[in-house]
Amino acid sequence: MRSYRAKPRDGVAWVTGASSGIGRAVALELARRGYRVAVTARRKGDLEELVCHTENITSFPGDVTDVAAMRALVKRIERQLGPIALAFLNAGVYFVQERAVFSAELAWRTFEVNTGGVLNCLDPLLVEMRRRRFGQIVMNASLAAYGGMPGSLSYAASKAAVVSLAETLRMTEDRQGINVQVVTPGFVETAMTAHETSFAMPFLMDADQAATRICDGIEISGFEITFPKRLAWPYKFVALLPYPLYFAIMRWVTRRVPLG
Ligand SMILES: NC(=O)c1ccc[n+]([C@@H]2O[C@H](COP(=O)([O-])OP(=O)(O)OC[C@H]3O[C@@H](n4cnc5c(N)ncnc54)[C@H](OP(=O)(O)O)[C@@H]3O)[C@@H](O)[C@H]2O)c1
Repeated sequence: MRSYRAKPRDGVAWVTGASSGIGRAVALELARRGYRVAVTARRKGDLEELVCHTENITSFPGDVTDVAAMRALVKRIERQLGPIALAFLNAGVYFVQERAVFSAELAWRTFEVNTGGVLNCLDPLLVEMRRRRFGQIVMNASLAAYGGMPGSLSYAASKAAVVSLAETLRMTEDRQGINVQVVTPGFVETAMTAHETSFAMPFLMDADQAATRICDGIEISGFEITFPKRLAWPYKFVALLPYPLYFAIMRWVTRRVPLG
């Protein structure tokens, strides 16, 4: 079955977590490729700054952890700009403090944004897209979703949940005309990775490069958009190994990650 691929003429592209980093760069790249883009995040000021770059971007501030707000927001976007044909669910957090002290509050907060935020956006999106029988939903997970590793704690777990969710929806929603994809990036230079000064992040790329890879992947429509391949493929292979080997390799690879 050929998956639906959103075109700018089909409707709006909605990007969450667009006030900085990857989301901001993807919003700009989609606007450059001809989409009318609706952008969401909590920091209104940063969204206002983004809107100044092009008339193709409109700001719809909001918190993805609030399901009622996301339902209302999707309605407002569609009323104001038209149907959402493409959604890039990207809002996410990583709390580096978790490495030193385990905290249930921080772990739940990670799940609330990274996993719950995706669920809260899917809720209104699936209703509308199923009714129209077309739509493309792209969830931003991480290479960290492939397996546990020192330093990643609830972050990797919250992203593994996103990948699993995307896998299931890929198989069920294509019957409804909805194309579901997942993004698994390696290290990208953003506020989220700015604290990583104690070890060299392999194949670090800037947010604009990441946005180009993501938007190219959105146009091609394979399930997983992963990059850089030099990191993703070895990691995927290691994740398939028996646990004793997996643990030994991952301990060695992450030996310089500070855990306290
Ligand atoms: N950087 C990397 O190396 C890397 C690698 C793999 C995956 N990722 C994923 O890429 C995504 C973007 O991260 P980034 O690296 O670009 O970091 P970033 O610059 O910190 O961006 C995170 C974005 O998420 C938004 N956000 C956080 N909590 C939110 C909430 N409750 N409601 C709405 N928006 C919220 C932030 O906006 P506000 O604070 O304004 O709300 C911000 O726009 C994340 O899902 C991250 O896990 C990043």
